[in-house]
Amino acid sequence: MHTTKRSYNTAQILLHWAIAALIVFNYFVSDGMGRAFRQHLNDSNSGYNLVASLHVYVGLAIIALVVVRIIVRFMSKKTKTASTNVFDRVSLIVHEILYLLMFLVPVFGTVAWYLGIHIMGDVHEIAMNIMMALVLLHAAAALFHQYVLKDGTLMKMFGQK
Ligand code: HEM
Repeated sequence: MHTTKRSYNTAQILLHWAIAALIVFNYFVSDGMGRAFRQHLNDSNSGYNLVASLHVYVGLAIIALVVVRIIVRFMSKKTKTASTNVFDRVSLIVHEILYLLMFLVPVFGTVAWYLGIHIMGDVHEIAMNIMMALVLLHAAAALFHQYVLKDGTLMKMFGQK
């Protein structure tokens, strides 16, 4: 069924799990961001409570790691073969959209916070909801490959060929 093959190098594996962990962290450490944001809009020196500070700085770290990840991806040797399988094509599209959203979600948050653009807070939240839905789909597909198709796809992200 699956015609694509790809193995990941250590940098790609570490970046994948580090970014995944930080995105989940920021998703849950976001309580009261709306309130902190409103304070910050009124006075750019306020709004930095513990949660908001963690959310902002971890989010900035995510942008940096995603940029590194995209560079590493382009530099890494691809072993992918062309596939006409509809599932492979959908999975490729979902991966491309995930790369885009992993970058854009924190960038929208940064624009809202540092440039004080209210509407970008809403854009950040809408993009974040779409990203988290795709993250769930992505995780479900990985588990399906691992435990139903038993093709070792998930294990490749733990360093197994
Ligand atoms: C991938 C990284 C990020 C994720 C998963 C994420 C997630 C979230 C979530 C779940 C909320 C909703 C909080 C709530 O409704 O109580 C939120 C709000 C917010 N986040 Fe992020 N965030 C990320 C990165 C960032 C960054 C880098 C910044 C700024 C430097 C930021 C600034 C904000 C602001 C200002 C709000 C409030 C928006 C509003 O109420 O209009 N976020 N974020």
